[in-house]
Amino acid sequence: MKVLVVGGGGREHAIAWKLAQSPMLSRLYIAPGNGGTGKVGENVNISAEDIEGLLNFARKEKIDLTVVGPEAPLVKGIVDAFTREGLKIIGPDREAAQLEGSKSFTKKIMQENNIPTAEYAEFEDYEEAVKYVKSRGAPIVVKADGLAAGKGVTVAMSVDEALEALKKVMVDKIFGEAGKKVVIEEYLEGEEASYIVLTDGKYILPLASSQDHKRAFDGDRGPNTGGMGAYSPAPVVTPEVERDIMEKIVIPIIKAMEKRGTPFRGVLYGGLMITEEGPKVLEFNVRFGDPEAQPILLRMKGDLLDAFVKLSEGELEKASISWDEDAAVGVVMASQGYPGKYEKGKVIHGLEEVEKMENVVVFHAGTRYENGRYLTNGGRVLCVTAKDRDIPSAIKRAYEAVEKIHWEGAFFRRDIGKKALKHLGLD
Ligand code: AMP
Ligand code: GLY
Repeated sequence: MKVLVVGGGGREHAIAWKLAQSPMLSRLYIAPGNGGTGKVGENVNISAEDIEGLLNFARKEKIDLTVVGPEAPLVKGIVDAFTREGLKIIGPDREAAQLEGSKSFTKKIMQENNIPTAEYAEFEDYEEAVKYVKSRGAPIVVKADGLAAGKGVTVAMSVDEALEALKKVMVDKIFGEAGKKVVIEEYLEGEEASYIVLTDGKYILPLASSQDHKRAFDGDRGPNTGGMGAYSPAPVVTPEVERDIMEKIVIPIIKAMEKRGTPFRGVLYGGLMITEEGPKVLEFNVRFGDPEAQPILLRMKGDLLDAFVKLSEGELEKASISWDEDAAVGVVMASQGYPGKYEKGKVIHGLEEVEKMENVVVFHAGTRYENGRYLTNGGRVLCVTAKDRDIPSAIKRAYEAVEKIHWEGAFFRRDIGKKALKHLGLD
Protein backbone atom coordinates (compact mmCIF):
# COMPACT_ATOMS: atom_id res chain seq x y z
CA MET A 1 0.00 0.00 0.00
CA LYS A 2 1.05 3.57 -0.64
CA VAL A 3 0.49 5.70 2.42
CA LEU A 4 0.66 9.45 3.00
CA VAL A 5 1.08 10.89 6.50
CA VAL A 6 0.07 14.55 6.81
CA GLY A 7 2.05 16.70 9.26
CA GLY A 8 5.61 17.40 10.29
CA GLY A 9 5.96 17.02 14.04
CA GLY A 10 7.11 14.38 16.50
CA ARG A 11 3.67 12.77 16.44
CA GLU A 12 3.88 12.34 12.67
CA HIS A 13 7.39 10.88 12.92
CA ALA A 14 6.07 8.35 15.45
CA ILE A 15 3.07 7.48 13.23
CA ALA A 16 5.33 7.12 10.18
CA TRP A 17 7.86 5.04 12.15
CA LYS A 18 5.12 2.66 13.28
CA LEU A 19 3.49 2.41 9.83
CA ALA A 20 6.91 1.70 8.29
CA GLN A 21 6.99 -1.59 10.25
CA SER A 22 3.92 -2.91 8.45
CA PRO A 23 4.42 -5.67 5.87
CA MET A 24 1.44 -4.16 4.01
CA LEU A 25 3.36 -0.97 3.25
CA SER A 26 5.00 -0.41 -0.13
CA ARG A 27 5.70 3.34 -0.08
CA LEU A 28 5.44 5.96 2.63
CA TYR A 29 5.25 9.72 2.10
CA ILE A 30 5.15 12.42 4.76
CA ALA A 31 3.95 15.97 3.99
CA PRO A 32 5.79 18.12 4.88
CA GLY A 33 7.66 15.82 7.31
CA ASN A 34 10.94 16.68 9.06
CA GLY A 35 14.55 15.53 9.29
CA GLY A 36 13.53 12.30 11.03
CA THR A 37 10.60 11.31 8.83
CA GLY A 38 12.89 11.55 5.79
CA LYS A 39 14.62 8.42 7.12
CA VAL A 40 11.47 6.26 7.37
CA GLY A 41 9.80 7.50 4.19
CA GLU A 42 9.94 10.26 1.59
CA ASN A 43 9.21 13.83 2.59
CA VAL A 44 6.95 15.79 0.26
CA ASN A 45 7.13 19.56 0.35
CA ILE A 46 3.42 20.32 0.81
CA SER A 47 2.10 22.06 3.91
CA ALA A 48 -0.27 20.11 6.19
CA GLU A 49 -2.94 22.75 5.64
CA ASP A 50 -2.73 22.85 1.83
CA ILE A 51 -5.70 20.58 1.25
CA GLU A 52 -5.79 21.16 -2.51
CA GLY A 53 -2.07 20.41 -2.82
CA LEU A 54 -2.36 17.24 -0.73
CA LEU A 55 -5.36 16.10 -2.73
CA ASN A 56 -3.52 16.59 -6.02
CA PHE A 57 -0.54 14.67 -4.71
CA ALA A 58 -2.69 11.78 -3.44
CA ARG A 59 -4.48 11.58 -6.79
CA LYS A 60 -1.30 11.72 -8.82
CA GLU A 61 0.59 9.17 -6.72
CA LYS A 62 -2.45 6.92 -6.30
CA ILE A 63 -2.16 6.96 -2.52
CA ASP A 64 -4.16 4.11 -0.97
CA LEU A 65 -4.49 5.61 2.49
CA THR A 66 -3.84 9.03 4.03
CA VAL A 67 -3.36 9.51 7.77
CA VAL A 68 -3.80 13.03 9.17
CA GLY A 69 -1.65 14.04 12.16
CA PRO A 70 -2.65 17.59 13.16
CA GLU A 71 -6.09 19.09 13.84
CA ALA A 72 -6.03 22.12 11.54
CA PRO A 73 -6.57 20.28 8.21
CA LEU A 74 -9.25 18.11 9.86
CA VAL A 75 -11.17 21.13 11.11
CA LYS A 76 -10.78 22.68 7.64
CA GLY A 77 -12.36 19.61 6.01
CA ILE A 78 -9.52 17.55 4.51
CA VAL A 79 -11.46 14.34 5.13
CA ASP A 80 -14.54 15.64 3.29
CA ALA A 81 -12.36 16.69 0.33
CA PHE A 82 -10.57 13.31 0.09
CA THR A 83 -13.74 11.29 0.60
CA ARG A 84 -15.54 13.20 -2.18
CA GLU A 85 -12.79 12.00 -4.53
CA GLY A 86 -13.06 8.42 -3.30
CA LEU A 87 -9.70 8.56 -1.51
CA LYS A 88 -9.32 6.72 1.80
CA ILE A 89 -8.29 8.88 4.72
CA ILE A 90 -8.09 8.48 8.49
CA GLY A 91 -9.66 11.22 10.57
CA PRO A 92 -13.05 12.77 11.32
CA ASP A 93 -14.87 14.85 8.73
CA ARG A 94 -15.34 18.56 9.28
CA GLU A 95 -18.58 18.22 11.18
CA ALA A 96 -17.16 15.63 13.62
CA ALA A 97 -13.89 17.56 13.94
CA GLN A 98 -15.89 20.25 15.74
CA LEU A 99 -15.19 18.21 18.88
CA GLU A 100 -11.84 19.99 18.76
CA GLY A 101 -12.73 22.92 16.52
CA SER A 102 -15.44 24.39 18.76
CA LYS A 103 -15.40 24.33 22.55
CA SER A 104 -18.98 25.59 22.63
CA PHE A 105 -20.18 22.71 20.39
CA THR A 106 -18.37 20.21 22.60
CA LYS A 107 -19.62 21.61 25.91
CA LYS A 108 -23.18 21.52 24.62
CA ILE A 109 -23.01 17.93 23.42
CA MET A 110 -21.40 16.87 26.71
CA GLN A 111 -24.10 18.62 28.72
CA GLU A 112 -26.89 17.04 26.66
CA ASN A 113 -25.40 13.60 27.23
CA ASN A 114 -24.43 13.93 30.90
CA ILE A 115 -20.75 13.53 30.16
CA PRO A 116 -18.76 14.72 33.19
CA THR A 117 -17.04 18.05 32.53
CA ALA A 118 -16.60 21.44 34.22
CA GLU A 119 -19.72 23.61 34.57
CA TYR A 120 -19.73 26.43 32.05
CA ALA A 121 -21.41 29.36 30.39
CA GLU A 122 -20.72 30.86 26.97
CA PHE A 123 -20.76 34.45 25.79
CA GLU A 124 -20.52 36.53 22.66
CA ASP A 125 -21.13 39.74 24.57
CA TYR A 126 -18.09 41.12 26.37
CA GLU A 127 -19.99 43.03 29.11
CA GLU A 128 -22.02 39.95 30.00
CA ALA A 129 -18.89 37.82 30.16
CA VAL A 130 -17.31 40.36 32.52
CA LYS A 131 -20.40 40.31 34.74
CA TYR A 132 -20.34 36.51 34.86
CA VAL A 133 -16.67 36.33 35.81
CA LYS A 134 -17.22 38.89 38.60
CA SER A 135 -20.19 36.96 39.93
CA ARG A 136 -18.36 33.59 39.92
CA GLY A 137 -15.00 34.77 41.25
CA ALA A 138 -11.64 33.00 40.84
CA PRO A 139 -10.11 30.55 40.13
CA ILE A 140 -11.93 30.36 36.82
CA VAL A 141 -11.05 29.27 33.28
CA VAL A 142 -11.51 31.38 30.12
CA LYS A 143 -11.41 29.65 26.72
CA ALA A 144 -11.64 31.02 23.20
CA ASP A 145 -14.25 28.95 21.34
CA GLY A 146 -12.26 28.08 18.22
CA LEU A 147 -8.78 26.79 17.38
CA ALA A 148 -6.08 29.03 18.81
CA ALA A 149 -2.98 26.86 18.35
CA GLY A 150 -3.18 25.68 21.95
CA LYS A 151 -3.02 29.23 23.32
CA GLY A 152 -6.73 29.94 23.74
CA VAL A 153 -7.07 28.82 27.36
CA THR A 154 -6.38 30.94 30.46
CA VAL A 155 -6.55 29.28 33.85
CA ALA A 156 -7.07 32.44 35.91
CA MET A 157 -6.15 32.39 39.58
CA SER A 158 -7.62 35.87 40.11
CA VAL A 159 -10.61 37.79 38.75
CA ASP A 160 -8.23 40.39 37.29
CA GLU A 161 -6.39 37.73 35.33
CA ALA A 162 -9.68 36.37 33.97
CA LEU A 163 -10.84 39.87 32.98
CA GLU A 164 -7.56 40.53 31.24
CA ALA A 165 -7.97 37.29 29.26
CA LEU A 166 -11.53 38.24 28.31
CA LYS A 167 -10.35 41.62 27.07
CA LYS A 168 -7.57 40.09 24.97
CA VAL A 169 -9.92 37.56 23.38
CA MET A 170 -13.13 39.60 22.98
CA VAL A 171 -11.97 43.21 22.64
CA ASP A 172 -8.41 43.04 21.28
CA LYS A 173 -9.42 39.90 19.32
CA ILE A 174 -5.94 38.35 19.53
CA PHE A 175 -7.31 35.05 18.19
CA GLY A 176 -9.51 36.67 15.54
CA GLU A 177 -12.71 34.73 14.76
CA ALA A 178 -11.71 31.90 17.12
CA GLY A 179 -12.47 34.29 19.99
CA LYS A 180 -15.85 35.54 18.78
CA LYS A 181 -17.38 33.32 21.41
CA VAL A 182 -15.85 32.43 24.78
CA VAL A 183 -16.50 29.56 27.10
CA ILE A 184 -16.01 30.33 30.79
CA GLU A 185 -15.80 27.33 33.03
CA GLU A 186 -15.36 26.05 36.52
CA TYR A 187 -11.78 25.37 37.63
CA LEU A 188 -11.23 21.66 38.16
CA GLU A 189 -8.73 20.28 40.59
CA GLY A 190 -6.94 17.00 40.10
CA GLU A 191 -4.33 15.35 37.94
CA GLU A 192 -4.46 15.45 34.16
CA ALA A 193 -4.27 12.39 31.93
CA SER A 194 -4.77 11.68 28.25
CA TYR A 195 -6.89 8.86 26.95
CA ILE A 196 -6.79 8.16 23.24
CA VAL A 197 -8.95 5.75 21.24
CA LEU A 198 -9.36 4.66 17.64
CA THR A 199 -12.93 4.38 16.42
CA ASP A 200 -14.74 3.64 13.18
CA GLY A 201 -17.81 5.40 14.54
CA LYS A 202 -19.21 2.36 16.31
CA TYR A 203 -16.44 0.13 17.58
CA ILE A 204 -13.93 1.70 19.97
CA LEU A 205 -10.36 0.48 20.31
CA PRO A 206 -8.79 2.10 23.39
CA LEU A 207 -5.08 2.84 23.23
CA ALA A 208 -2.83 2.90 26.29
CA SER A 209 -3.25 5.74 28.80
CA SER A 210 -0.66 8.50 28.95
CA GLN A 211 0.22 11.77 30.60
CA ASP A 212 1.58 14.96 29.07
CA HIS A 213 3.62 17.77 30.72
CA LYS A 214 2.22 21.02 29.33
CA ARG A 215 4.24 23.67 31.15
CA ALA A 216 7.68 24.67 29.92
CA PHE A 217 9.63 24.22 33.15
CA ASP A 218 10.16 21.70 35.95
CA GLY A 219 7.46 21.45 38.59
CA ASP A 220 4.75 22.50 36.10
CA ARG A 221 5.94 26.09 36.06
CA GLY A 222 6.24 28.57 33.22
CA PRO A 223 4.15 29.08 30.12
CA ASN A 224 1.97 26.44 28.46
CA THR A 225 3.57 24.59 25.57
CA GLY A 226 2.45 21.93 23.11
CA GLY A 227 3.85 19.41 25.62
CA MET A 228 7.35 18.92 27.01
CA GLY A 229 7.24 15.16 27.51
CA ALA A 230 4.90 12.26 28.10
CA TYR A 231 4.78 8.76 29.47
CA SER A 232 2.61 5.70 29.11
CA PRO A 233 0.89 4.04 30.88
CA ALA A 234 -0.31 6.69 33.35
CA PRO A 235 -0.79 5.07 36.77
CA VAL A 236 -3.35 7.76 37.74
CA VAL A 237 -5.58 5.92 35.26
CA THR A 238 -6.30 2.91 37.44
CA PRO A 239 -8.54 0.12 36.10
CA GLU A 240 -11.55 1.76 37.85
CA VAL A 241 -10.75 5.18 36.40
CA GLU A 242 -10.34 3.58 32.98
CA ARG A 243 -13.73 1.92 33.26
CA ASP A 244 -15.30 5.28 34.14
CA ILE A 245 -13.53 6.96 31.21
CA MET A 246 -14.93 4.40 28.78
CA GLU A 247 -18.44 4.14 30.26
CA LYS A 248 -19.09 7.75 31.19
CA ILE A 249 -17.07 9.61 28.57
CA VAL A 250 -15.83 7.78 25.49
CA ILE A 251 -18.78 5.50 24.73
CA PRO A 252 -21.39 8.26 25.34
CA ILE A 253 -19.61 10.81 23.14
CA ILE A 254 -19.18 8.35 20.25
CA LYS A 255 -22.85 7.33 20.57
CA ALA A 256 -23.96 10.96 20.73
CA MET A 257 -22.04 11.81 17.56
CA GLU A 258 -23.61 8.86 15.78
CA LYS A 259 -27.09 9.80 16.99
CA ARG A 260 -26.80 13.32 15.64
CA GLY A 261 -25.89 11.92 12.23
CA THR A 262 -22.25 13.03 12.40
CA PRO A 263 -20.40 9.87 13.37
CA PHE A 264 -16.85 10.33 14.58
CA ARG A 265 -14.27 8.19 12.76
CA GLY A 266 -10.57 8.42 13.46
CA VAL A 267 -8.50 9.12 16.53
CA LEU A 268 -10.25 10.68 19.52
CA TYR A 269 -8.20 12.13 22.35
CA GLY A 270 -9.76 12.89 25.72
CA GLY A 271 -7.86 15.48 27.74
CA LEU A 272 -9.09 14.58 31.22
CA MET A 273 -8.87 15.83 34.77
CA ILE A 274 -8.94 12.95 37.22
CA THR A 275 -10.82 14.62 40.08
CA GLU A 276 -11.99 13.27 43.42
CA GLU A 277 -15.38 12.75 41.78
CA GLY A 278 -13.84 10.79 38.93
CA PRO A 279 -12.58 11.67 35.44
CA LYS A 280 -13.93 14.86 33.81
CA VAL A 281 -13.33 16.15 30.29
CA LEU A 282 -11.15 19.24 29.83
CA GLU A 283 -11.14 18.97 26.06
CA PHE A 284 -11.40 16.59 23.18
CA ASN A 285 -8.85 16.50 20.39
CA VAL A 286 -9.58 14.79 17.11
CA ARG A 287 -6.13 13.30 16.55
CA PHE A 288 -3.22 11.74 18.42
CA GLY A 289 -1.58 13.86 21.12
CA ASP A 290 1.90 15.22 20.59
CA PRO A 291 4.03 14.10 22.51
CA GLU A 292 1.68 11.38 23.86
CA ALA A 293 1.78 9.50 20.54
CA GLN A 294 5.53 8.96 20.86
CA PRO A 295 5.56 6.79 24.03
CA ILE A 296 2.20 5.20 23.14
CA LEU A 297 3.34 4.07 19.69
CA LEU A 298 6.66 2.84 21.07
CA ARG A 299 4.63 0.46 23.29
CA MET A 300 2.17 -0.60 20.61
CA LYS A 301 2.35 -4.18 19.37
CA GLY A 302 0.57 -5.16 16.17
CA ASP A 303 0.11 -3.57 12.79
CA LEU A 304 -1.10 0.05 12.93
CA LEU A 305 -1.55 0.19 9.16
CA ASP A 306 -3.81 -2.85 9.28
CA ALA A 307 -5.79 -1.21 12.12
CA PHE A 308 -6.21 1.99 10.06
CA VAL A 309 -7.38 0.01 7.02
CA LYS A 310 -9.93 -1.83 9.15
CA LEU A 311 -11.01 1.48 10.70
CA SER A 312 -11.61 2.96 7.26
CA GLU A 313 -13.65 -0.09 6.26
CA GLY A 314 -15.83 0.07 9.39
CA GLU A 315 -14.36 -3.16 10.72
CA LEU A 316 -12.13 -1.91 13.47
CA GLU A 317 -13.22 -4.76 15.75
CA LYS A 318 -11.11 -7.06 13.57
CA ALA A 319 -7.88 -5.16 14.25
CA SER A 320 -5.36 -6.73 16.59
CA ILE A 321 -3.41 -4.26 18.64
CA SER A 322 -1.86 -5.08 22.00
CA TRP A 323 0.55 -3.41 24.39
CA ASP A 324 4.05 -4.01 25.53
CA GLU A 325 4.10 -4.50 29.31
CA ASP A 326 7.04 -2.12 29.42
CA ALA A 327 6.52 1.56 30.15
CA ALA A 328 7.70 4.32 27.81
CA VAL A 329 8.84 7.86 28.54
CA GLY A 330 9.43 10.63 26.00
CA VAL A 331 11.43 13.73 26.90
CA VAL A 332 11.03 16.71 24.57
CA MET A 333 14.20 18.65 23.80
CA ALA A 334 13.34 22.19 22.74
CA SER A 335 15.01 25.34 21.44
CA GLN A 336 15.97 27.96 24.02
CA GLY A 337 13.11 30.47 24.21
CA TYR A 338 10.30 28.08 23.21
CA PRO A 339 7.28 28.58 23.48
CA GLY A 340 8.30 32.19 22.77
CA LYS A 341 10.91 33.29 20.22
CA TYR A 342 13.81 30.96 19.45
CA GLU A 343 16.61 30.53 16.93
CA LYS A 344 16.79 27.84 14.27
CA GLY A 345 19.57 26.20 12.30
CA LYS A 346 21.70 24.88 15.20
CA VAL A 347 23.63 21.69 14.49
CA ILE A 348 22.39 18.74 16.58
CA HIS A 349 25.16 16.48 17.92
CA GLY A 350 25.06 13.01 19.44
CA LEU A 351 22.22 11.37 17.51
CA GLU A 352 24.47 8.56 16.17
CA GLU A 353 25.51 7.77 19.74
CA VAL A 354 21.87 7.39 20.81
CA GLU A 355 21.01 5.28 17.77
CA LYS A 356 23.20 2.55 19.25
CA MET A 357 21.12 2.44 22.45
CA GLU A 358 18.58 -0.31 22.82
CA ASN A 359 14.90 0.54 23.28
CA VAL A 360 15.43 4.22 22.59
CA VAL A 361 13.93 6.03 19.60
CA VAL A 362 14.50 9.72 18.93
CA PHE A 363 11.41 11.12 17.26
CA HIS A 364 12.12 14.33 15.40
CA ALA A 365 9.86 17.39 15.37
CA GLY A 366 11.49 20.70 14.40
CA THR A 367 14.52 19.33 12.53
CA ARG A 368 15.82 19.30 9.00
CA TYR A 369 18.49 17.18 7.38
CA GLU A 370 21.07 19.01 5.32
CA ASN A 371 24.49 17.93 4.02
CA GLY A 372 24.67 14.95 6.33
CA ARG A 373 23.74 16.90 9.46
CA TYR A 374 20.56 17.46 11.41
CA LEU A 375 19.73 21.08 12.17
CA THR A 376 17.13 22.52 14.53
CA ASN A 377 14.13 23.91 12.68
CA GLY A 378 11.43 24.57 15.27
CA GLY A 379 10.54 25.07 18.95
CA ARG A 380 10.07 21.46 19.93
CA VAL A 381 13.02 19.75 18.26
CA LEU A 382 13.15 16.11 19.43
CA CYS A 383 11.22 13.72 21.61
CA VAL A 384 13.72 11.26 23.04
CA THR A 385 11.63 8.21 23.84
CA ALA A 386 12.70 5.12 25.80
CA LYS A 387 11.08 1.88 26.84
CA ASP A 388 11.92 -0.19 29.87
CA ARG A 389 10.38 -2.56 32.42
CA ASP A 390 8.80 0.18 34.51
CA ILE A 391 8.50 3.95 34.58
CA PRO A 392 11.55 4.65 36.76
CA SER A 393 13.77 2.55 34.45
CA ALA A 394 12.29 4.15 31.36
CA ILE A 395 12.90 7.62 32.83
CA LYS A 396 16.51 6.69 33.50
CA ARG A 397 17.04 5.34 30.01
CA ALA A 398 15.40 8.35 28.34
CA TYR A 399 17.57 10.82 30.26
CA GLU A 400 20.71 8.78 29.54
CA ALA A 401 19.92 9.32 25.87
CA VAL A 402 19.05 13.01 26.36
CA GLU A 403 22.43 13.60 28.01
CA LYS A 404 24.19 12.42 24.85
CA ILE A 405 22.42 14.95 22.61
CA HIS A 406 23.58 18.55 22.33
CA TRP A 407 23.07 21.73 20.40
CA GLU A 408 23.59 25.34 21.27
CA GLY A 409 20.64 26.43 23.38
CA ALA A 410 18.93 23.07 23.89
CA PHE A 411 16.61 22.82 26.88
CA PHE A 412 14.36 20.17 28.38
CA ARG A 413 12.49 19.40 31.58
CA ARG A 414 14.27 17.20 34.08
CA ASP A 415 11.15 15.87 35.77
CA ILE A 416 9.27 14.06 33.01
CA GLY A 417 7.47 11.07 34.52
CA LYS A 418 7.95 12.20 38.09
CA LYS A 419 4.22 12.40 38.80
CA ALA A 420 3.88 8.72 38.00
CA LEU A 421 6.35 7.82 40.73
CA LYS A 422 4.03 9.24 43.38
CA HIS A 423 1.29 6.81 42.33
CA LEU A 424 3.76 3.96 42.31
CA GLY A 425 4.79 4.85 45.88
CA LEU A 426 8.33 5.65 44.73
CA ASP A 427 8.52 9.39 45.26
P1 AMP B 1 -7.48 22.73 27.05
O1 AMP B 1 -6.88 23.26 25.78
O2 AMP B 1 -8.94 22.93 27.16
O3 AMP B 1 -7.04 21.33 27.38
O4 AMP B 1 -6.79 23.57 28.22
C1 AMP B 1 -5.38 23.67 28.32
C2 AMP B 1 -4.96 23.41 29.73
O5 AMP B 1 -5.63 24.29 30.63
C3 AMP B 1 -5.34 22.01 30.21
O6 AMP B 1 -4.39 21.07 29.86
C4 AMP B 1 -5.42 22.22 31.70
O7 AMP B 1 -4.15 22.18 32.28
C5 AMP B 1 -5.96 23.61 31.83
N1 AMP B 1 -7.42 23.62 32.01
C6 AMP B 1 -8.36 23.66 31.02
N2 AMP B 1 -9.61 23.65 31.54
C7 AMP B 1 -9.46 23.61 32.89
C8 AMP B 1 -10.38 23.57 33.97
N3 AMP B 1 -11.71 23.62 33.81
N4 AMP B 1 -9.87 23.52 35.24
C9 AMP B 1 -8.53 23.49 35.44
N5 AMP B 1 -7.63 23.52 34.46
C10 AMP B 1 -8.06 23.58 33.18
N1 GLY C 1 -0.12 17.09 24.02
C1 GLY C 1 -1.35 17.79 23.89
C2 GLY C 1 -1.90 17.81 22.55
O1 GLY C 1 -1.45 17.12 21.66
O2 GLY C 1 -2.86 18.54 22.34
